[in-house]
Amino acid sequence: MQSFKDKVAVITGAGSGMGQQLAINLAKENCNIVICDINKKTIQETEEIIRNYNVSCTALNLDLRDYKNIKTLLETTLKNYNKVDLLFNNAGVVAPSSFLNLSEEDWDWCNDINYNALVKLSRVFLPYLMKSDEGALINTSSIFGIITTPNNTVYHSSKFAVRGFTESLAMELRDEKIQIHSVYPGHIGTNIVLDAKFDKDFLTVENENKNNPDSNQITLQEFGSTFKDTGMNPNKAAKIILKGVKRNKKRIFVGLDAKVMEIAQRITPSHFMKLIPFLNLLIFPYFIKRLKMTRVLISIAKSRKS
Ligand SMILES: NC(=O)c1ccc[n+]([C@@H]2O[C@H](COP(=O)([O-])OP(=O)(O)OC[C@H]3O[C@@H](n4cnc5c(N)ncnc54)[C@H](O)[C@@H]3O)[C@@H](O)[C@H]2O)c1
Repeated sequence: MQSFKDKVAVITGAGSGMGQQLAINLAKENCNIVICDINKKTIQETEEIIRNYNVSCTALNLDLRDYKNIKTLLETTLKNYNKVDLLFNNAGVVAPSSFLNLSEEDWDWCNDINYNALVKLSRVFLPYLMKSDEGALINTSSIFGIITTPNNTVYHSSKFAVRGFTESLAMELRDEKIQIHSVYPGHIGTNIVLDAKFDKDFLTVENENKNNPDSNQITLQEFGSTFKDTGMNPNKAAKIILKGVKRNKKRIFVGLDAKVMEIAQRITPSHFMKLIPFLNLLIFPYFIKRLKMTRVLISIAKSRKS
């Protein structure tokens, strides 16, 4: 794909993080934008930013878990632009929890947004994307769709499923003119952990230790903020994703940490988890920041054992 100029791109979860930055960067390249998010305030903020560029922008406040809304997104796009060239299935959430403490409701919440909505969106948009001369479907998985960590079963399940779905679909449609990409970000500094649903143990530990002066526990708010402060800038991440789309890279890895972890799990599938703290430290530009994040993760691990 040579350029995004005069194309129509739909971006889900564009109120924050990588989705917002994808929308802004596409608008800078004269691409018309359709954005949606469950958060009314933040999607309006993104819309206001896009209005600074000389492109058309349609912003919808909707919950992708409802199939009706997925249809609305498609119908509004076709009504306003009569075509769609790019779909960025970006919206996503996390629900860190031990499996036995994870409620059925939170399991469904995470899977319905990260995986089920993404499949439904792909199904309804694909026939129109395939009509475009340069159409592309871009599905965001995660490095956690390739490696696994404890206390994150539902996120891993949903992201492994996105990877399997997208890579299989890419093979199935390899002779068609549509581009199909799976995106594997490493640690990107966004609001995703601040907006997470944590299990009741995380909260109990937090509350129990709040008044204990000897405790070195951090609060969920601090964890979320540290996650945001220490990851790659989402604007940089969006640029890497868009470059990958232009170059038609089937698998787009975002960040050195994602690349290193992907290689490590291939070389040593059973032991690579032990390497992660060292791998984190190896990522030179983020050395100090990563040190802080490693401390936070150790603190959480300790609190879960106590
Ligand atoms: N941040 C990371 O380190 C990281 C790493 C790997 C993969 N990812 C993936 O990248 C994608 C973007 O995440 P981010 O880090 O920018 O997160 P973010 O929290 O900044 O943005 C996600 C957006 O999705 C929206 N959203 C949530 N539920 C929705 C729903 N039901 N309907 C519509 N919108 C909804 C949120 O309101 C939010 O604006 C996600 O799929 C995430 O899993 C993130």
